[in-house]
Amino acid sequence: MKNKNNATGPIIEAGTPDPEIQPKDCLGIEHSDPCAVVIVGATGDLTARKLVPALFNLYLNDGLPDPFHIVGCGRTKLNDQQFREKMETALMAKGIMNDSKWQAFSDVLHYRSVDYGDLGSFTNLAKFLRELDQKNNTRGNKIFYLALPPSLYKPVAQMLGQAGLSKERENGNGWSRLVIEKPFGRDLKTAVELNQSIQEYFKEHQLYRIDHYLAKETVQNVLMFRFANAIFEPIWNRRYINHVSILASETLGVEHRAGYYEQTGVIRDMFQNHMMQLLALTAMEAPSQFETGRVRDEKIKVFRSLKPFPVEKLHEYIVLGQYSQGKINGKPVPDYREEPGISPDSLTPTFAKMKVFIDNWRWQGVPFFLTSGKRLAKKITEITIQFKGIPHSMFRQTLGEHIDANQLTLGIYPDEKVTLTFQTKNPGARVCLRSVTMDFSYHQNYTGPILNAYEKVLIDCMLGDQMLFWRQDSLEHCWSFLTPILNECESCGNREEMLHFYESGSWGP
Ligand code: BG6
Repeated sequence: MKNKNNATGPIIEAGTPDPEIQPKDCLGIEHSDPCAVVIVGATGDLTARKLVPALFNLYLNDGLPDPFHIVGCGRTKLNDQQFREKMETALMAKGIMNDSKWQAFSDVLHYRSVDYGDLGSFTNLAKFLRELDQKNNTRGNKIFYLALPPSLYKPVAQMLGQAGLSKERENGNGWSRLVIEKPFGRDLKTAVELNQSIQEYFKEHQLYRIDHYLAKETVQNVLMFRFANAIFEPIWNRRYINHVSILASETLGVEHRAGYYEQTGVIRDMFQNHMMQLLALTAMEAPSQFETGRVRDEKIKVFRSLKPFPVEKLHEYIVLGQYSQGKINGKPVPDYREEPGISPDSLTPTFAKMKVFIDNWRWQGVPFFLTSGKRLAKKITEITIQFKGIPHSMFRQTLGEHIDANQLTLGIYPDEKVTLTFQTKNPGARVCLRSVTMDFSYHQNYTGPILNAYEKVLIDCMLGDQMLFWRQDSLEHCWSFLTPILNECESCGNREEMLHFYESGSWGP
């Protein structure tokens, strides 16, 4: 960032865009090495709804390397042309088709069918990728994006490895990266096992474990807000902060994901990843440099300092709930147990609220309340810092003892904003206070293009920047924090008693 009001330069009013910074500079679309992105599971939903649209958008913004190729793989038998038609339909459905650019983009789309259990398929794929590379000079660089059910991560990673596709800088290979999405296991043990089997072939520096929350602009902004401003850090601790609330509420229900969600529940689905990352960004110390390894090192210190839950009095620290029927946006919605594919006596939690403590000097005794649930009143994602009240009120004779304490909200959804509430005098002859807010809207005065989470993730992966991805040690620390509660909640005799039913459209139990 530039110092706007230096003595010699022109005075720029706060909040106005700096004419020297072009929106594209901020977008940071740098060109990575030429490469091929291989999507395994390319006939699925994720490819059509997210991945190919993200790649096409990057192409439209001149954000892809040249040369560049996309190779879709899947069990379905398709030829290149059929795959291109499928992707064309997907882009049209998203309303982002650009006819004049489509032709050139479709030329870089290819398709190879593979059988996930057959090494021969993968050696054929390796041969095809070698030929593509030789013809187009993509320098042997490859990203393998597993758009697959998690049960296939292990076998497919192993097949890729056995076919020589994880090897880097030998036999004509350049770099090779593997992208996977959560869930990374279902508890500490399975996460360690999954990692061990993938790491037989792909090393940690080749692994990109996605958390799409980290790619959200306003989530990235938490570190800028905290560490690029001098005024917040001195009060960002137990002396001034009463508690921190992290909320990710949704109005959506389980949708068509019964099979996944019944096995997962809200703790694995939202806490073991997104909520933990939001917690780490709020609580971590400043790294000495904004550099991948150092940022990740600071986060892991937060995870290591999480105070284990006292399992014997879990009910004081965690509330679990499941939605029952109610109304969302005025429309009736069914019980979770009546959703298609959900067992009628399911005990899967769709809501959780946890009180978490961080055992270190900065945060000793400050509760962090983490709340997330489905079918709640509103979709909101935000981090709220509740400061302590004033130590003494000189207004107590006229206003009583209570004066609302200051609150700082980092809004992630729906409003991407920073809001600070404070007290001011109400106009008029009587002494009356009112809470007012000072708001900064994240996109204020910015008109340039904005990257969505998948675009950001794909760019970073092409550039080899792992900052926004999970590192295995962090994952394991979070699992070791949450696995005991999962065990307790899932194996205890009073499981049903722990689950509180809440009306859809309410704020939870
Ligand atoms: C996903 C969860 O990771 O995040 C979903 O699997 C959840 O259950 C989603 O709905 C929420 O993401 P966002 O970006 O809409 O807040």
